[in-house]
Amino acid sequence: MPGMKILASPGSMQRAALGWMSRKISVGFVPTMGALHAGHLALIARARRENEIVVVSIFVNPSQFGPREDYSRYPRPFRRDAELCRKAGADVLFRPSAGSLYPPGYDTWVSVDKLSRALCGPFRPGHFRGVATVVLKLLNLVLPTRAYFGLKDFQQVKVIERMARDLHLPVRIVPCPTIREPDGLALSSRNAYLSPAERSAAVLVPAALRAAAQVIKSGRRSSVERARRAARGLLSRIPGARVQYADVVDPGTLAPLKDVRGRAVAAVALYVGKTRLIDNLIVRRHA
Ligand code: PAJ
Repeated sequence: MPGMKILASPGSMQRAALGWMSRKISVGFVPTMGALHAGHLALIARARRENEIVVVSIFVNPSQFGPREDYSRYPRPFRRDAELCRKAGADVLFRPSAGSLYPPGYDTWVSVDKLSRALCGPFRPGHFRGVATVVLKLLNLVLPTRAYFGLKDFQQVKVIERMARDLHLPVRIVPCPTIREPDGLALSSRNAYLSPAERSAAVLVPAALRAAAQVIKSGRRSSVERARRAARGLLSRIPGARVQYADVVDPGTLAPLKDVRGRAVAAVALYVGKTRLIDNLIVRRHA
């Protein structure tokens, strides 16, 4: 398909999707909130390799932001994003308006209860309900064969996998590795909020995860508490940091672990000044 189509209305998106489905054309879907970076582009590249049609959505979803969060100041560089999608080989860029996805009287929500209560849950009430709802709506409009999500947002991947299983969604959820800056900081649209000093100190975030991983890998099974302390120690060296959690959790349930047998996830969330950062590392403990 030469060129890239930009669709804005949910109806036109779903009509195109129904056409592909009736012709048995495989569709790869990458949902985003825009302000695209190399992490998003890696998902698009993977979708491009594995499907005949690639759809990217850009929608800053109001229902996943809390009242004191950054919905209105979230970056929206649409022309640049569209150009990046085109260069990455997207066939369709879907950019619905907030009013078309949430018209007056909108009243239907999806919540994935237990998984949404872990990790970020207590700090972002309603966030995963907003994410699950919008992702289900987008999946119903794009009708993809495969949908691609970054493990940078580990809890989000778990919530969406659970929803897809529980609601029998006919889509393959494909988790993709976290893309990082050369110094280790995970790429995020929110990194643009960091001042130069905050940005330099933010290298301690991936360093804290690596330190925790190191303790778990080399330590005894019960080394989890030491791993948590190692992570917190490094995070506390970031000026102006307010740590929400620094934990080692079960990759399936996201519940905090007391000891690590097989796999674990070291996960952190913190404010650096006014910017909320999250990151995680999947750790495998040698038997
Ligand atoms: P957004 O933050 O724009 O991220 C879109 C996708 O890119 C998500 O799957 C996210 O995990 C992935 N991503 C972000 N940074 C990444 C990185 N450094 N490496 C790899 N993948 C990365 O996540 C959302 O939007 C929204 O919650 C959304 C799913 C679109 C629902 O509104």
